[in-house]
Amino acid sequence: MEYIIVEPAHRKFIALVRLNRPDALNALNLQLMGELRDALKELDDNDEVRVIVLTGNEKAFAAGADIKQMADKTAIDMLKIDQFSTWDQIKKTKKPIIAAVSGFALGGGCELAMTCDMIVASETAQFGQPEIKIGVMPGAGGTQRLSRAVGKALAMEMILSGNFINAERALQAGLVNRVVPVELYLDEALKLAESIAAQSPLATMMAKEAVNKSYETSLSEGLFFERKNYYLLFAGQDQKEGMNAFIEKRRPEFKGE
Ligand code: CAA
Repeated sequence: MEYIIVEPAHRKFIALVRLNRPDALNALNLQLMGELRDALKELDDNDEVRVIVLTGNEKAFAAGADIKQMADKTAIDMLKIDQFSTWDQIKKTKKPIIAAVSGFALGGGCELAMTCDMIVASETAQFGQPEIKIGVMPGAGGTQRLSRAVGKALAMEMILSGNFINAERALQAGLVNRVVPVELYLDEALKLAESIAAQSPLATMMAKEAVNKSYETSLSEGLFFERKNYYLLFAGQDQKEGMNAFIEKRRPEFKGE
C-alpha cells in the first residue's frame, strides 16, 4: 500500500491505520480510499483486532477528496467512477473505528471522520465542509451526518458558508468525543480504544450495530432490533464470562466467543 500504513499500535487488540499522503494534506484520492477500504476489511476479519484507530498526521487528518483528480471530470465520469461507493465499505466495518484527528478535517476528511464511530481531536483540529467554495457540495455524507451530529443550524452554516469550526466548537456541538493537546491526541485515542477493546468484542459489535440502527429507523423498530441483539448475546460465552466474573468479583476475560 502506498497511501495507507497499518502501524503497530503497541497495544493489545488495537490496530492503528494512518493516512499517509502528507504532501497533499492526505487528500483522499481513489487509490488512497481503495487502500483504506482493503485495510479496514482485513482488520475487520482479523480476530486479533478489536478496535481500529484511524489517523493522519499533526497537520491534517485529511483535507478532503482530491480536487485535482476530480477537477476535469464530467457528471457521467463521476457516476461511472462512483468514488463514494468505496466509503460504504467503511461504514460496514463491524469493529469500532476511532478517528484521531489533528489539523484539517475538511470536506471528505470531515466526512471520513464522521463515518468513524468516535472522534478524538487535538486542540489544533479544524472541521469544515468547504465544498461550496469550489462550486459543489458535500458528496460523501456531509449533509446527512453533520446535520445529525451538530444539528441543522450549525450544519447549514458550515455547509453553506464553507467556514471551519475549531476543536472546542466541535466539542460543544457534539461532533467530537474529546479534545486534548496536540501531543496527546493519538495517545488519548489509543487509550479510548483500549478501554473498548477490554470489553466483549461480540457485545461491542452488536452495540455498535444497534446504535447505528437508531439513525436509520423508527424508535419502535430500533428498540426491537436492540432487544434482539441483547438476547442474541446470551448465546455467547462472553455473556456467561462477564456475568460470572461480576458475581465472583473478578475481572472478566472476554474471548469474543
Ligand atoms: N485535493 C487535492 N490537493 C489538495 C487538497 C485537496 N482537497 N487539499 C490540499 N491539497 C494540496 C494542495 O494543492 C497543495 O499541493 P501543492 O503543494 O502541490 O500545491 C498541498 O496539498 C498543500 O496545500 P496548501 O498549499 O493549500 O496548504 P495551506 O496550508 O495553504 O491550506 C487548506 C490548507 C486550507 C486545507 C487548503 O489546502 C484547502 O483549502 N484545501 C482544500 C479543502 C477542500 O476544499 N476540501 C473539499 C474537497 S471536495 C470534497 O471533499 C468532496 C466530498 O464531499 C467528498
